[in-house]
This record gives sequence, structure tokens and C-alpha cells, in this order.
Amino acid sequence: MAVSLAARGAWLCVLLAVVAAAAVPAAEALGMNWGTQATHPLAPKIVVQMLKDNGIKKVKLFDADQGTLNALAGTDIEVMVAIPNVLLDVMTDYDTARDWVRHNVSRYHFDGGVKIKYVAVGNEPFLASYNGTFDKVTFPALQNIQNALNDAGLSDVKATVPLNADVYNSPTDNPVPSAGRFRKDITDLMTQMVQFLANNSAPFTVNIYPYLSLYLSDDFPVDFAFFDEGAIAAPVLDNGVTYTNVFDANFDTLVSSLKAVGHGDLPIVIGEVGWPTDGDKHATAVYAQRFYNGLLSRLAAHKGTPLRPNQYMEVYLFGLLDEDVKSVAPGAFERHWGILRFDGQPKFPIDLTGQGQNTMLVPAKDVEYLPRTWCVYNSNAKDTSKLAENVNFACTFADCTALGYGSTCAGMDAIGNASYAFNAYFQVQNQRDEACDFQALAVPTQTDPSTATCNFTIQIAAASSTSAGHRRTGPGPLGAAALLALALLVQLLFMLQ
Ligand SMILES: *[C@@H]1O[C@H](CO)[C@@H](O)[C@H](O)[C@H]1NC(C)=O
Ligand SMILES: *[C@@H]1O[C@H](CO)[C@@H](O)[C@H](O)[C@H]1NC(C)=O
Ligand SMILES: *[C@@H]1O[C@H](CO)[C@@H](O)[C@H](O)[C@H]1NC(C)=O
Ligand SMILES: *[C@@H]1O[C@H](CO)[C@@H](O)[C@H](O)[C@H]1NC(C)=O
Ligand SMILES: *[C@@H]1O[C@H](CO)[C@@H](O)[C@H](O)[C@H]1NC(C)=O
Repeated sequence: MAVSLAARGAWLCVLLAVVAAAAVPAAEALGMNWGTQATHPLAPKIVVQMLKDNGIKKVKLFDADQGTLNALAGTDIEVMVAIPNVLLDVMTDYDTARDWVRHNVSRYHFDGGVKIKYVAVGNEPFLASYNGTFDKVTFPALQNIQNALNDAGLSDVKATVPLNADVYNSPTDNPVPSAGRFRKDITDLMTQMVQFLANNSAPFTVNIYPYLSLYLSDDFPVDFAFFDEGAIAAPVLDNGVTYTNVFDANFDTLVSSLKAVGHGDLPIVIGEVGWPTDGDKHATAVYAQRFYNGLLSRLAAHKGTPLRPNQYMEVYLFGLLDEDVKSVAPGAFERHWGILRFDGQPKFPIDLTGQGQNTMLVPAKDVEYLPRTWCVYNSNAKDTSKLAENVNFACTFADCTALGYGSTCAGMDAIGNASYAFNAYFQVQNQRDEACDFQALAVPTQTDPSTATCNFTIQIAAASSTSAGHRRTGPGPLGAAALLALALLVQLLFMLQ
């Protein structure tokens, strides 16, 4: 009898374990990239509340901003803090790395502090377009940071380097995942780095962007960017394995590259994956919803990839919020990666638990907006000879990326374009009176000029945004040329960041 009870008990345990495993939502594994390259970033406490309201348990930051970390303190949200690329050089000095760890990690390590789990050392530092700028400093910085963490008794915090997927590839004459190898110019570096990560039980972090595969090549089969089940016109066949989506193919190219340097089992974290919603014909909310729907249901089912089947994957979506001053060098879509708008309003239905029950996310609460005033083209304008020049100026300092081909505000006439640009600038300038003049070409209005698809935004007010937002002031006495030069410099800095 006792035996049978125990046996039944065991069965029940197994059953409960199975039920529990099935019920674990993807949100447990799912993280969000929280970038802040915005003129009016939402206040950290508003963002943190929104994360909680949506059951999001992990965030990846691009810095170790004190205000952000204070807002995260006392929550059960796991955090990846980051060291920007521009600081990698100084981190090659161990004492500097040790101080950084003290100030930005150890300081928050207490009961009720911040659950810092990773330190990202750099952001895509080996991007081919950086021409090797960070090749010499990244690995020493990684070593110093992990060693400093270990020396501070924080060896559970792992240092890792989020890398772009262009650090590996497969040969053009054999473009299959099993032929994946690290890029030739950095093979030795990657080999050492991977060994160091393995020695410290730290993960390899990679950013994978099916959207970019599609964006960068007109010949790329659209369906291959998504995770739809069913017939794919052009699957990739690799030694009996069929790849029906580029995410799996890309991930397994990395697995093969790791295997080739003796660490085929190194844990992999997806540092960024996502789909933008504006700024390009393929950057739409419809495509984004399709992409996330497929991705999240696979994650929830722990589907894994052909080379790592049935696995839990740690994934950080890119990104949480739109960022209106991200560099548009890669493309106009760069400012539209958020699953939420800049103000924390959801864009499309999504189910972060991967159960396909797509609903709108819980929006940010307590967001205060500027008054409902827009700035538009002045239909009584006498001299329009300087219109293009003024639109250009507005778009240099505000985000006009929704105006381009295939975007939400495309197809307007020159007047519509001008109104959009003037309003964008006026909002960035916190609706200062002088910011809606443009040599008498613009006037403020209380009538919303938005159309069904094109959103003329109202910016959020200072109370909802951090000081970074309202410290920005108008052009003042500086000439337009000087400002343009400054804008280009700022863009360059963002690119290098
Ligand atoms: C990180 O620590 C350094 C001290 O080494 C400090 O100067 C820096 O401001 C900190 N970074 C942030 C973003 O708090
Ligand atoms: C890398 O080199 C290319 C070609 O020489 C150049 O156009 C680009 O500006 C360089 N980029 C950086 C970040 O140095
Ligand atoms: C990793 O650990 C092994 C064994 O302790 C050691 O020989 C090797 O130098 C370490 N590699 C790195 C890159 O730290
Ligand atoms: C409106 O702006 C977009 C983006 O700059 C441009 O492609 C388009 O040609 C403009 N339309 C007119 C009528 O000027
Ligand atoms: C415009 O943006 C606001 C604020 O985020 C949002 O509430 C509204 O639904 C958007 N309208 C359109 C047409 O996208």
C-alpha cells in the first residue's frame, strides 16, 4: 500500500512537472532591449512599471545608467548592463575595469538591489564596417571585466560580447549552416574569446536579424525571413537537414563555427532579434506581427534549431521602444524597432508567452503629453522659395523617416511633407513658439493633421521624460550650417557607439 501510494505520488509529481513545464510562458525566457537614443525617452520608472505590467522579466541595456538601474532596483527583473564601444579602450586597463565593476555592478548587488546577470562588453564591436577599430581592445576588456567580477566575488555575473552575425559566415561556394566558420580576419581572436567565455561559463551573445537579410537583398525569398509552417519555396538543404527559415540557418551557422573552434556546446544568447514597423516597404506592423508570432510560439515550444533541437533559448527582442535619434545610416527603419511606440503605446497585437493569443500589450501608464498642438505648413505663406531648405532643416533635427518610400507617411505632396517635417521639429523642440515659424512658412494648429496611416505625433512632456529630453534646446544663435555639421558629428558618434 505504502509502495503504491509512493508510486502514485511519484506519478503525480511527474505529471505536475510536465504541466508546470508546459505552462512556463515564453516571458520567463524573453527579454527586451531597452535603448534610449530618443529626444524624449520615457522616464525609467514608467518603463519599469510597463515591463512589470506585461510580465517581462529581463532587460538588456546599452549602458549602466544610474537612473535606469535605480528604477530597476527591488524588482525581480534580470538585467544586462553594458559598456559602450567607446569605453572598450580604457577597459584594457585592469584598474579601470575594476572601478567600472565597483561603480556599476557591485554597488547594486544587495538585497533589494538590481539583479544584474550579465555585463555586455561593447556592442557589435567586430562589425565589418568598423574596419577593425575595436579588434585589439575588445578581448582584453572582456577579460578584465570578467576577472574584476570574479575578484569582487560576483562570478555569477557573466561578461559577454554581443556580436553581430557578420562575425561568422559560410563559404559562398557552400552556403550551408554546417560549413559555418568565424570570419577569416578575426578567427584567432574569436577562438581565444570563445575559449575565455567557456572557461568562465559565460554565453556567446549574437544578434540575428532576418529582417536585414530581406532588406539587404531584393532576391531574398520573403517567406524564408518568417517562421510560417508549410511549404517554403526555397528551403536550404544541408546534409539531409532542411532549413525553412533564415533564423535557424543563421543560428546553426554559429553553432558550426563554435564547433570548428572546439566549443560546439557553448551556450548562445540571442542579444537582439526583431522586426521594425516603419521606414521601408518590408518594415510594417503586419510583417512584424507575423515575425513575432512565429518566433514567440517556437520559443514557447522550446523548439530549438536543427543543430540544437528542443532547447530553451534566452532571447532579447529588439526592441522595446522606438528611438527617434538612432542613426539612420543602416536605413530609415532604424528608428522604428519598438514593439511599442516612443511613448509606450503598443503598435500591434502580440502574445509574449507564445501561445498565439495576440492582444495589445499593456501601455505605459502616467505618460504626460505636450498640449494637442501641431505645427503645419502655412497655407497663407507668400514666399515658398525657401520651402525645401526649411524642410531639410527640420528633418535634420527631427525624425522624418516615416516620409520615405514604403513608409506610413509616404505619398504626400510637398506641402504634406513640409507639414510633417515642421510638426516633427516643433514637437522635438517641446512646442516652443519659435520652433513653429520656418520663415513664416509654418503655423500652429489645434486640428490633428494625422491621416489613417500617417501619425503626426505629439511629443511627451518633460514630466514623463528624463532630463536628456528637455535639456535639448532650439538652434538659438547658431547658424544652420553649424548645426548641420553638429548633427552629422552626432550621427557619427551614434554609429560608433
Ligand atoms: C560606471 O563607473 C564609472 C567609474 O569607473 C563611472 O565613471 C561611470 O559613470 C559609471 N557609468 C555609469 C553609466 O554609471
Ligand atoms: C571604414 O572604411 C570605409 C572604406 O575605407 C570608410 O568609408 C568608412 O568610413 C570606415 N568606417 C569607419 C567606422 O572607420
Ligand atoms: C582557459 O582555461 C584553460 C585551462 O585552465 C587555459 O589553459 C586557457 O589558457 C584558458 N583560456 C583562456 C583564453 O583564458
Ligand atoms: C516627400 O518626402 C519624401 C522623403 O524625403 C520624398 O521621397 C518625396 O519625394 C517627397 N515628396 C514630395 C512631393 O516632395
Ligand atoms: C498615433 O500615435 C498615437 C500615440 O502613440 C497613438 O495613440 C495612435 O494610435 C497613433 N495613430 C495612428 C494612426 O497610428
